[in-house]
Amino acid sequence: MSHSLPFSPPSAWIARFAPLVPPGARLLDLACGGGRHLRFFHGRGCHVTGVDLDLRGVADLVGQERVNLLQADLENGNPWPAALADFDAVIVTNYLYRPLLPDLLAALKPGGILLYETFAMGNQRFGRPSSPAFLLRAGELLELARGRLHVVAFEQGEVSSPKAAVIQRLCAIAQRPAAPDLDGDPAPVPLPPA
Ligand SMILES: C[S@@+](CC[C@H](N)C(=O)[O-])C[C@H]1O[C@@H](n2cnc3c(N)ncnc32)[C@H](O)[C@@H]1O
Repeated sequence: MSHSLPFSPPSAWIARFAPLVPPGARLLDLACGGGRHLRFFHGRGCHVTGVDLDLRGVADLVGQERVNLLQADLENGNPWPAALADFDAVIVTNYLYRPLLPDLLAALKPGGILLYETFAMGNQRFGRPSSPAFLLRAGELLELARGRLHVVAFEQGEVSSPKAAVIQRLCAIAQRPAAPDLDGDPAPVPLPPA
């Protein structure tokens, strides 16, 4: 006998770091699709915002408390929607449109968490996506994080579940701006060359 869930389960990577996103957090799921992560975090008490070109997969969530849905073409060159700001968590899975990456980081509050998981170069041998436009380059998410996010965990490589694929995934926290030096201590004087 086969059992089928009504909705796809969350990615194991996203579920692993979900405890870092407390109940009440404001969470954005970019290209949310059928809303597997919206549903997961909504069930954990978060205020969830889902954005997608096609919202038919989340039609059942319309009007629910703590759910905000935005139909948008994220790739048409329009400016990033102003309402998509100040999130405690941003989730992106199985989606890549490189021009949005700076906007994604800017949408995070200081201390907010970025959970990203998508296909990477090498996935071509398993099928789609196979275009380099949709595949992360080696270490690309680490590069994205450098100087802006504290990396909690990063992985890249081949997986066999839920299907054979080459993927890359990141969990990282947006850095808080450095506090100003209120003592006005002078900058250290460089030592003269020996
Ligand atoms: C492979 S699905 C991933 C869905 C979801 N993130 C998940 O992992 O279950 C990719 C999603 O990207 C959305 N998408 C593709 N092009 C888009 C665009 N130009 N603007 C907004 N969403 C887009 C699709 O509608 C689809 O829901």
